[in-house]
Amino acid sequence: MAFKRSHSCGVLRKSDVGTQVALAGWVNAYRDHGGVAFVDLRDRQGITQVVFHPDYKEAHDIGRALRNEDVVAVKGTVRAREEGKTNPKMVTGEIEIVVTSAELINKSDAPPFTPGQRDVVSEDTRLKYRYLDIRRKEMTDALVTRHKIVKIMRDYCDAHGFIEIETPILYKSTPEGAREFLVPSRLHAGEFYALPQSPQLFKQVLMVGGMERYMQIARCFRDEDLRADRQPEFTQLDLEMSFIDREDIIELISGLIVRLWKEVLNIELPATFLRMTYQECMDRFGIDRPDLRYGLELKDVSDWANSTDATVFKSVVGAGGHVKLITVPGGGTSLTRKALDALTEEAKKFGAKGLAYLKLGGDAGAGKMSGPIAKFVNEEKQAELRNLASAADGDVILFCADKLDVTYRVLGELRQNIARQLNMIPEGGGGQWKFLWVIDFPSFDYDAATQRHIAKHHPFTAPRDEDIALLDTDPTKVHAKAYDIVLNGIELGGGSIRIHQKDVQSKVFGLLGISPEDAQKKFAFLLDALRFGAPPHGGIALGVDRLVMLMLNRQSIRDVIAFPKTQSGTDLMTEAPSPVEPKQLVDLSIATIAPPSPKK
Ligand code: AMO
Ligand code: AMP
Repeated sequence: MAFKRSHSCGVLRKSDVGTQVALAGWVNAYRDHGGVAFVDLRDRQGITQVVFHPDYKEAHDIGRALRNEDVVAVKGTVRAREEGKTNPKMVTGEIEIVVTSAELINKSDAPPFTPGQRDVVSEDTRLKYRYLDIRRKEMTDALVTRHKIVKIMRDYCDAHGFIEIETPILYKSTPEGAREFLVPSRLHAGEFYALPQSPQLFKQVLMVGGMERYMQIARCFRDEDLRADRQPEFTQLDLEMSFIDREDIIELISGLIVRLWKEVLNIELPATFLRMTYQECMDRFGIDRPDLRYGLELKDVSDWANSTDATVFKSVVGAGGHVKLITVPGGGTSLTRKALDALTEEAKKFGAKGLAYLKLGGDAGAGKMSGPIAKFVNEEKQAELRNLASAADGDVILFCADKLDVTYRVLGELRQNIARQLNMIPEGGGGQWKFLWVIDFPSFDYDAATQRHIAKHHPFTAPRDEDIALLDTDPTKVHAKAYDIVLNGIELGGGSIRIHQKDVQSKVFGLLGISPEDAQKKFAFLLDALRFGAPPHGGIALGVDRLVMLMLNRQSIRDVIAFPKTQSGTDLMTEAPSPVEPKQLVDLSIATIAPPSPKK
């Protein structure tokens, strides 16, 4: 470069008029007005208009040949824009640079899209040319804000006595939670490392190691089916503390979130967040990460349903099942017949046998009800129902009758679906930040198919002290010292107080169907560590990608990750994963049983 830049493209103002400056950046846009070339020059900080006048011939020759995304450096004088030519939308909109000399640093091919064109290209194209996409303001802003968020996290933890410690990426295979990524070992033919799903056990061992407060901005790897808020590799703010209880973690993390919202978004959150037990979440919302920005709560009306003449209900209640409902206010007009049919199909997808509904008022007349089951509900029962469901003419009541877990799942999903469909969710986060701590999770789910208990959080989570005896008698009744933080229907983070006694840990492994031999094979180091003075400890991990996505009101975590993978787990820019040379496989003592599938 012939000259060094003196300013960025985002900082010059009217007060700089007359200053000699040098700028460098990319051509964001160009136009020619009667032989004078105007170029919007862009760098990370912003955009400044630069003007190439024929009076400065050499520079003008360069300027008029510039095209989108060329890299150029200019020298010149800051000048006030003429009356009527200012651009109030740009912070630099009152000035321009009259270029006296210029250097074309690097000519760009015509780009497949320009940074202003997000919506005219597919996400696949943006991912393939991610470097062009990163030049887009939204993407640059996301990465800059992400940096700021992570820095605040580190500073906050540092101020609270946490030490950042790196834990291994090449780890041991302990298939417990999601499927893991394996890495073959060359030096130990036929053996594998696994990439960590989280630093869980290392951070617990660090507590046994006496570090007392550990934190890490940790990369985690999970070979799961992907969704908008899931990536195969993602980042956690992971932390662990010794000699603490649940309240310490809740206070610490609530404080961090309040600080993040204040410093990044300039929003004052309340100092404490709402709390709800797992059971209350399920009963009211059918899900353990409820979106509290709208109502549509579930209600159990099993007793009422059993006292009607509707056999669809009575047979279910008779068999020990439940009948639950959701009232959709104004559903009589907003939910057409077609919409109700679609909801029924949706309900079936989640395991329902059907979706009974009652319309209040409307065609049936004021104070009356209509719908497929109306004739099985006499007047007295209708009146009771209006009360139970807090429903009035114009509303629609939807029913699911089934086993308890099916009613939760079906109505929990429909609730979200209906809220979206009827635009009941405040736009764009809408300043509506509904944080929720979910507590008192059961320790285990019971899987009837495999007749096994499955850890609801993970196998290292401590049962509540008063529930320890139940481990032997009735494990499904055991509650865990676990907690989740939920924001607007998305699980931001989760953690627990851990088991620090070897005998309790062994007992929980046993309950989970992990034999003593297996436990020894997979977790000997943990069981050993618990023998040598393990302090009581606990921690939490926050999903950094999800947090940044929610703070920036983006639709997907892909929008806040520099180089994300697609829904099918590929990196469109580097084309990973990819086949490897046969020789590499030989070195690793690996033979594949299927040829690589052709790229889509
Ligand atoms: P958990 O599995 O709940 O807990 O993960 C913690 C948080 O990480 C985020 N997260 C993800 N983000 C993006 N893509 C994914 N595939 C993904 N999976 C999880 C979520 C989630 O709440 N070791 C425990 C924590 C602990 O007990 O301290 C753990 O990993 O926001
Ligand atoms: P049927 O008697 O099967 O014609 O069902 C009458 C109505 O009840 C229809 O609207 C069905 O969709 C609905 N329905 C059937 N089974 C259930 C169920 N288990 N829970 C809720 N609604 C149901």
